Amino acid sequence: MTGQAPRLDIRNLTRRYGGRAVVDDVSLSVMPGQVTCLLGPSGCGKSTTLRMIAGVETQDSGVVLVDGQPISDGVRNLPPEQRQIGLMFQDFALFPHLSVADNVGFGLKGPRAEVRARVEEMLARVDLGRFIDAWPHELSGGEQQRVALARALAPRPRIMLMDEPFSGLDNRLRDGIRDETLDVLKEAGTAVLLVTHEPEEAMRMADEIALMRDGRIVQMGAPYNIYNAPVDREAVAFFSDINVIRGVVRGALTETPFGQFLAPGVPDGAAVDIVIRPQHLKIDFDRNGSGPLPTARDGTPARGIVQRARFMGNESLVEFRMDHDGSLIRATVPNVFLPRPGKPLWLTMRRDRCFVFPAKA
Ligand SMILES: Nc1ncnc2c1ncn2[C@@H]1O[C@H](COP(=O)(O)OP(=O)(O)OP(=O)(O)O)[C@@H](O)[C@H]1O
Ligand SMILES: [Mg+2]
Repeated sequence: MTGQAPRLDIRNLTRRYGGRAVVDDVSLSVMPGQVTCLLGPSGCGKSTTLRMIAGVETQDSGVVLVDGQPISDGVRNLPPEQRQIGLMFQDFALFPHLSVADNVGFGLKGPRAEVRARVEEMLARVDLGRFIDAWPHELSGGEQQRVALARALAPRPRIMLMDEPFSGLDNRLRDGIRDETLDVLKEAGTAVLLVTHEPEEAMRMADEIALMRDGRIVQMGAPYNIYNAPVDREAVAFFSDINVIRGVVRGALTETPFGQFLAPGVPDGAAVDIVIRPQHLKIDFDRNGSGPLPTARDGTPARGIVQRARFMGNESLVEFRMDHDGSLIRATVPNVFLPRPGKPLWLTMRRDRCFVFPAKA
């Protein structure tokens, strides 16, 4: 990709409402054929970011570039219809009074035969050629979604902006449609910016995730990196349940009932949070009163009493009341193991799966 300009490049985009920056200095770029997910909780500014890129809203500052050319800098702004940007939103309605063919051909100009050929090509791509002369109400929800995708892609947009486009579908349909959509978009070389508040959807779809919070991008990277090298406690918690063990630092180390943890660069006396996901705790038995047999990787075991255990199918979720401070810790165990409440068991934390962050007040 040497020297190739990003298909979509946004720089320092900011939008204020009533003095509050709801999108605050957001920059990101998307290469052709790549999918970037804007992931974040409700109200963090995802849709506002998309609306500025689409041109239906104007930024207070910042620039939007397509293939290296500015299309909007807040002063000169290309109107939405000239941006060659496809849109697919959650409430993607098809036009009920138009046939499937006319829906897909809606944004197309040119001789009728050419439009028809493009419509046929797009419907074939989403595997709906047989519905070309049907009406929207004759299609299932998933089929309508695919028609909407064909309609959005028919004018060959350079960029596709998608705002929770799959949230109206039931779970069973959703996975298949997501994968098909990705295939079609990748094949067309479209740069995709997809908004979601579901981490699973982002991890499934994205080449890159931009994690957003309070109008800002707090972390950007491949799903693997965001999941395994989160920037802060909230970033861990956004993807899964977490356990937090608070400790105080002495000489770049913090002492806990689970052993010592490194806290490099944290001053003496400062508090740190050791964060671990439930699936990275290990449960062990009290072997004839002699305690468990931890490996070097597991660190020190701490004892707790089972409060609750739930069978979840692939795994069991077990909640412990810890002997050392009465705190609750949750662990998931990936097999058919369902201890009784009241049973004392030992927990160890997988050292390579713990995150240590300076504690926020
Ligand atoms: N036209 C507007 N006037 C005033 N405030 C607005 C306007 N549009 C959005 N906001 C505010 O900006 C913030 C961000 O809104 P936005 O729609 O971008 O959030 P979002 O991340 O898309 O959330 P969701 O996941 O719920 O769709 C919200 O607090 C919202 O209330
Ligand atoms: Mg939104």
